[in-house]
Amino acid sequence: MLGRGCKNFSAMRIVKSIAAMQKLAQRWQVKNTCIGFVPTMGYLHAGHLSLVKRARQLVGRRGKVIVSIYVNPTQFGPKEDLGRYPRDLTRDKQLCRTEGVDVVFVPDDKLMYPQGDHKVFSTCVIEEALSRGMEGASRPTHFRGVTTVVAKLLNIVQPEIAVFGAKDFQQATVIQRMVRDLNFRVKIIVAPTYRESDGLAMSSRNNFLSADERRQATILWRAIRQARQTVRTGTVSSERLKAELRHTIASQPAARLDYVEFFDPDTLVPVKKVTRGSHIALAVFFGKTRLIDNGRL
Ligand code: PAJ
Repeated sequence: MLGRGCKNFSAMRIVKSIAAMQKLAQRWQVKNTCIGFVPTMGYLHAGHLSLVKRARQLVGRRGKVIVSIYVNPTQFGPKEDLGRYPRDLTRDKQLCRTEGVDVVFVPDDKLMYPQGDHKVFSTCVIEEALSRGMEGASRPTHFRGVTTVVAKLLNIVQPEIAVFGAKDFQQATVIQRMVRDLNFRVKIIVAPTYRESDGLAMSSRNNFLSADERRQATILWRAIRQARQTVRTGTVSSERLKAELRHTIASQPAARLDYVEFFDPDTLVPVKKVTRGSHIALAVFFGKTRLIDNGRL
């Protein structure tokens, strides 16, 4: 790893075209240079940067770290927050530069999805099992958008390693399945959820919260900890624990629970009996802002 003082800031490239990105990736492959990839939708925070750090650790200083910034329209439902999704490319580029990223890939919408022209874009990737519940149930077209864009990005960047966050646990699991099922030649790494000091998982969407909602938003983390505490004393029925957590979340006037689920972390199949090693995931609205979190119990 390069030390803080000797990072080569000026070397970071901004690549906007798919063809240029593919050409650069191919050049590095020929030279046996290991590529680590972190796909994002931008408005970067310390959670994203923790994935970048992990990618750098994995590829070493001779390897290349590529971060993509693309607010992928196909993973947003018609009533969701695509229009107001936060963007600040100048700041994102600066953060990447400070982090020693080699390439920021910022593909243009028109290149990723030739607008409205189904003669040139009519293919998508659908994972049919793991993506049905939880986020998939609440946001029916979401994972189709995610798997399709991640498949496209992996084909463009051709990385050896791609790093995803456990913050979006179901997403990471769906992508691991897609990579296995479709024989992508990439190793998927899942890095831990990065949290604020009060436990709130970092998210670009936290910026939408009012000061009051922000205070109440710690309820997601508190619910996870409460569940952890409960299973420590033994197995508990999922229905009972859900009822307790519904009550906990209702203690915050601005919070509206979308779902809370307990499941097996490998299969994502809901469990009737919650034990240590089960996984919890929940989604809670604060006004129009929807936050998700999860954790191993
Ligand atoms: P985005 O929400 O920008 O997240 C990019 C990556 O950062 C994802 O792998 C996500 O799990 C991870 N991440 C977000 N918050 C985190 C936190 N607090 N701690 C650790 N990791 C965190 O997820 C997406 O974008 C998109 O769906 C994408 C995969 C880029 C496809 O469009």
